[in-house]
Amino acid sequence: MERGNSFYLNSQSSWESNARSYPRKIPIAITWAKGIMVRDADGKSYYDCLSGAGTLALGHNHPVVIEAMQETLRSGLPLHTLDLTTPMKQQFVEELFQCLPSKFANRAKIQFCGPTGADGVEAAIKLVKTATGRRNMMSFHGGYHGMTNGALSLTGNLSPKQHVANLMPDVQFMPYPYNYRCPFGVGGDEGHRIGSRYMEHVLNDPESGIVRPAGMIIEVVQGEGGVIPAPVEWLREIRRMTCEREIPLIIDEVQTGLGRTGKMFAFEHADITPDVLVLSKAIGGSLPLAVIIYDESLDQWQPGAHAGTFRGNQLGMAAGIATIQFIKQNQIDKHAEKVGDLFQYQLVNVKSDTSCIGEVRGKGLMIGVEIVNKEGTPDHLGSYPAYPELAKMIQQQCVSRGLIVELGGRYGSVVRFLPPLIITDEQVHDIIAIFHDAVTASERAIISKLVEVLS
Ligand SMILES: Cc1ncc(COP(=O)(O)O)c(C=O)c1O
Repeated sequence: MERGNSFYLNSQSSWESNARSYPRKIPIAITWAKGIMVRDADGKSYYDCLSGAGTLALGHNHPVVIEAMQETLRSGLPLHTLDLTTPMKQQFVEELFQCLPSKFANRAKIQFCGPTGADGVEAAIKLVKTATGRRNMMSFHGGYHGMTNGALSLTGNLSPKQHVANLMPDVQFMPYPYNYRCPFGVGGDEGHRIGSRYMEHVLNDPESGIVRPAGMIIEVVQGEGGVIPAPVEWLREIRRMTCEREIPLIIDEVQTGLGRTGKMFAFEHADITPDVLVLSKAIGGSLPLAVIIYDESLDQWQPGAHAGTFRGNQLGMAAGIATIQFIKQNQIDKHAEKVGDLFQYQLVNVKSDTSCIGEVRGKGLMIGVEIVNKEGTPDHLGSYPAYPELAKMIQQQCVSRGLIVELGGRYGSVVRFLPPLIITDEQVHDIIAIFHDAVTASERAIISKLVEVLS
């Protein structure tokens, strides 16, 4: 007898750790995947707008990625080489550096890390601490940098931190410009300008209680924090302040890198240059790979300072090269911008047709829809309270209608769309129709629930 979802899920819940996460919200076993589509063990198909948390830039099993991996397997190249070099590694570095703005690439060094974004962040922390001799790190409210000790210490979300003692000390968090819920209660351009003035004040004030940091880490578009793009002017201010004070700026593009936001790298929107760039997810073309690329002046750490066994994944490099080349040859970054605009435009229509969407926002194909309770009391800017129960219901309704989406943001109340970058206009139309239906059904269900409670 064929094994269906319930067999795999029951087995998973009996064997796998209590810390497992996605299966709780997306309770399926995946048996087949191609492009944006996946199929579960019950034979049901889904649009995958999670795409491995933004990893699958070209979708599942893209022919160029599969061919590159098969060719590598046939070639007799070693599959694993620690950090010893190979022709594959040489080509990977050349391809990656060619994607970077030349003023960064011309002075850049690369470190291959353990194959996760979090390990890239750990490497960046060590790099800047070693180079500056300072001990503090600065990060931002809502920032997400991974789950290892150092990376988690730089992450805003309190829930994964609350049961873990002795995280990395000496981390200060600064306000990130979140227009819908402006930390200064002002919003708009004035809101982010107050934020940058406040930061400059903190950095200047000899009694701020915060010593000059070894580095500042930032996402240009916060992903897990709720899909919040930082304004270009604010980013330029951050870059100016950090340059003037010789504070290395670490730009974490683990999620935004390789075209997702409509540019090859999100920092290019602001025409700024990072001191350290953290990359993972898409660069491995669906396989695990992570690197940091940084200004040569920081290259002061010693041999073995960030050693690790799995830094030589040749298949990941082959898949990464194929992905980078495909993105460049087909201008997939521009495609992501165009389709992303269409996606957001259609979501704004859903917002006007329904009554629980506070804001639609994003950049390129990194899109968020903030679900709010319009029966609640708005703040003085007119923003409504988050509605996590309804967001969860919308996610469930999406999954039951064949659309995989993720939740993020404060209280998990932002529905996130991270489709593969090769998504077509027609697929966007289909996805929007499913989402619209799911929102309407969830609103109806929540009203009936309320009526039931009141009667
Ligand atoms: C911006 C950012 N940094 C770091 C990470 C951590 O990457 P990983 O989960 O591969 O450790 C993530 C993961 O989503 C991320 O979005």
